[in-house]
Amino acid sequence: MSVLLNRTKSFICTKSFCKSLLVRNYSDVPKKFKTFDEVIAQRREEARRSLVVQVNSESSFNELYNYCSTHATVKDVHHYKNFNDEHFMLMEFASEDNVKEVLQTCCFHQKDADIMASKSPFVWFRATPGNKNKYEATTKSLAVKDGNNKVDEDELFGNLMECHTVSDQIQMLYDKTKLNDVGIRLRFMLARQLEVMMSSLYANIAIYPFGSSVNGFGKMGCDLDLVLTNNVNYELLDTNRRLVYQEKKCEGGRSPWQRHMELVGTLLELRVAGAARVQKILNARVPIVKYSHELTSLDCDLCYNNMSGVYMSELLWLLGERDQRVRPLTFAVRRWARTVSLTNPHPGRWITNFPLTLMVLFFLQQRRHDGFILPSFNKLVAAAGKDDIRIAEESVNCTFLRDLNKLPADSSRSEDNLETLLYHFFEYYAQFDFQEKAISIVEGVPIRKPNSLPLYIVNPLEQALNVSRNVSFEECERLKMEVRNAAWHLEAVLDGKKTEDWGLLGLLEKQSTRGVKKLLRVGHNHRLVSVKDLFAEDEEPKRKTDQQIDAS
Ligand code: CTP
Ligand code: MG
Repeated sequence: MSVLLNRTKSFICTKSFCKSLLVRNYSDVPKKFKTFDEVIAQRREEARRSLVVQVNSESSFNELYNYCSTHATVKDVHHYKNFNDEHFMLMEFASEDNVKEVLQTCCFHQKDADIMASKSPFVWFRATPGNKNKYEATTKSLAVKDGNNKVDEDELFGNLMECHTVSDQIQMLYDKTKLNDVGIRLRFMLARQLEVMMSSLYANIAIYPFGSSVNGFGKMGCDLDLVLTNNVNYELLDTNRRLVYQEKKCEGGRSPWQRHMELVGTLLELRVAGAARVQKILNARVPIVKYSHELTSLDCDLCYNNMSGVYMSELLWLLGERDQRVRPLTFAVRRWARTVSLTNPHPGRWITNFPLTLMVLFFLQQRRHDGFILPSFNKLVAAAGKDDIRIAEESVNCTFLRDLNKLPADSSRSEDNLETLLYHFFEYYAQFDFQEKAISIVEGVPIRKPNSLPLYIVNPLEQALNVSRNVSFEECERLKMEVRNAAWHLEAVLDGKKTEDWGLLGLLEKQSTRGVKKLLRVGHNHRLVSVKDLFAEDEEPKRKTDQQIDAS
């Protein structure tokens, strides 16, 4: 341990690190910021104008395009494959009426007593071999866009090897692994599918994606968090109207929304095309229904009225928009944390991506030699106007500035490049006093810990809560050790040799080689884990327990 501490001191003294690297101007990028609400509204509108059509193969495009074009104007088409290698075309039309017109030509598959047909924006296109030539002869005026496949790991590592600087590697990792346009569209299509199904039962329901699917920190293949909420339609609450619908009160022992979520779970099982492996977790503080969507290969967590989760996504999105270095840096940190098993797809006593992201944001709020990168949350609250007032779950104050264009430009914004920032992120947390201090993006400076939990990261919207209260003492110790190891590794970049684990490559590893490397690392760190833990499948969908959902 003393060796570790001595090494820590040695790298902390290396302040000239990375000084020679390419300087890029990050502060005066003129940009007109869209608000989160504008982005979400545009995605929801796009989903209302879209259909997901299963086809035989990618070559069915011409036939499908020409079929749809006889009924509507096709604006855009994206092809993707699910995990079963089935092909789909995500078709965007010019208007919502176009979608209705196309859907009017739909029929049901077969007459079968076991199948109750249901309408949804997920359909399939019946191949007609006789007509193929006719369709193929027609000139298509639209190219099919890229799908939603994850980047090939060998290709990614090859590209990272070829980068000239660590900053370029960090940017490359972000560009190649971030959730792409098709991934986002599909997530909004799933929300739309549920909304369509539920609109026949509930008068004013809305379903929004939140979490990494919309906050700009999501990678390809990330889970989909969904919230079901009452979309208050003030016209329908008009007390001057004379006729009022009779209402149905929810009775019985359980809370009404536990019962509604139970129904939603059952509907998912019985009525939603593609929904499988439905799990209802109703006794948690936030009742939740989990399911896998086979047509899109997405794992979904649906909860009720957790609007503070949506506003939290908005806050993260805003901070990610504020400076172009925030997201690439967070991606590098999240991927590194996964590599060294600080995060884990299985729920447990370890840190998750959300608090890890708060750690990165907090680091970027620290004053460095040439200024700050991100403002504190308090600054966003102080700049809020009356349009920014939001109260979630009846008492959680989620008021903060929504329009970044109104935030005064920082005259002293740090110009550090990504490599310098990543190194200093590790250095900062290698020195951080986890014993006494809490991480709080509210103030943007370390504050005294209110209790003795090993890791304390303040929830900015519910400031009495610690978002990392599940993290054990051992995991917190590992976090401290791994940030030191990472800083040593990056420090070695100074000697300029391009070995095979040069720069970011030494901090990451291919998903395919994780099993073996994990074994070696565990041996090295003397960490006790079960054999099952060692060979746990990386991509297995994470499943939170009731207790963990309560904890969050
Ligand atoms: N959230 C929150 N408070 C917590 C935990 C989560 O407000 N204590 C909200 C955040 O908006 C978070 C979202 O719930 O982004 C979803 O949580 P989770 O799925 O754990 O994190 P993601 O950000 O979606 O990251 P991942 O890609 O790992 O799913
Ligand atoms: Mg998530």
